[in-house]
Amino acid sequence: MDRSLRDVVNLYNPADPLERAWTIPAPWYLDARIAELERQGVFGATWQFVGRTDQVREKGQFFTVEVSGEPLVVVRGQDGELRAFFNVCRHHAAAVVTEPAGSAERFRCPYHGWTYGTDGALKGMVEFEGVCDFDRAKNGLLPVRVETWENFVFIHLDSPGVSLREFLGSAVGLVAPLELTKKLKFFERRRYALNCNWKVYVDNYLDGGYHVPHAHKGLSSVIEYTKYTIKNFERACLQSSPISAEGESQPDVSATRRGRAFYLWIYPNFMINAYEGVMDTNLVVPLGTDRCAVVFDYYFADTSVTAQARNRESIAVSEKVQDEDTMLCEAVQRGLRSRAYLAGRLSVRREAGEHLFHRLLHADLTRALGRTAAAD
Ligand code: FES
Ligand SMILES: [Fe+2]
Repeated sequence: MDRSLRDVVNLYNPADPLERAWTIPAPWYLDARIAELERQGVFGATWQFVGRTDQVREKGQFFTVEVSGEPLVVVRGQDGELRAFFNVCRHHAAAVVTEPAGSAERFRCPYHGWTYGTDGALKGMVEFEGVCDFDRAKNGLLPVRVETWENFVFIHLDSPGVSLREFLGSAVGLVAPLELTKKLKFFERRRYALNCNWKVYVDNYLDGGYHVPHAHKGLSSVIEYTKYTIKNFERACLQSSPISAEGESQPDVSATRRGRAFYLWIYPNFMINAYEGVMDTNLVVPLGTDRCAVVFDYYFADTSVTAQARNRESIAVSEKVQDEDTMLCEAVQRGLRSRAYLAGRLSVRREAGEHLFHRLLHADLTRALGRTAAAD
């Protein structure tokens, strides 16, 4: 590929209004340089969902996670404070915490046994007498900014220009009436692997229900397609639709999809999907140009034993939709590789969310490109 990275970024024109807009071009989904620019300029420079507050409720509870290639640990300190750190030992860079989750009073690096407090402070070094100019106080785990909203823990790898709440903007007010923390309990996490670029999955999510009647017959049987609304905010898009269980609706779908469909996307890679008493969140994680994982956290109003069967049925309905989306997304990724395609147009009625996504992404990539150029 001989186009410069700047030329690839500039293939997209963010100034076009929706009626004239094109999608972001195929090379953005294929070029490893774009993936690297996203790693720094998008995932390394925005607030990122990493987990749930219910995972770190008690003192000493922790979980480990990777964001943008950085190993992290999120921990509720013995003093009750929630913190996040780079999970990288200050001695020779081993991962200090190796379990995915647990509870600890201290962390002991498995390599040479250095110990750190849950506040990140370096507590002890084995056989380190006689080492000159070593300040223990300056060798704690390096901290990462962490903030919470609803049941969600977010981190920011860089120094954030805005607080999490400012970043979320209108999304805070959109989610508040759902009373998530009061009405819903976490049930189960599932992870799905897809052979497509992470943006293909986000595009598919943001097409305003365009594909629902064609690709999701079950879901389509309850969604009132013509009343489907799409509304953009600063860094979020809310898609919503009344649910109607009359007529030809499929029984498993109508039993678990009631009230109103609420599909909120938060730039760049987090979604909240809610119906009455049912919710899931999705985190889309890039794993290279043509692979991604989507982490689903399923929540229900009732997680008691008596509700087990219905909750399982609800997850099965979601998984059916997820399977249908996986097929579509993987086909799109193959098509993007074809010489027959560079970019496509957007439906004004349906695809305003994608337009927002593409413009925000272009802005972040342009900013990151500027930083790279300044560093050269
Ligand atoms: S790398 Fe952690 S103690 Fe050596
Ligand atoms: Fe879908």
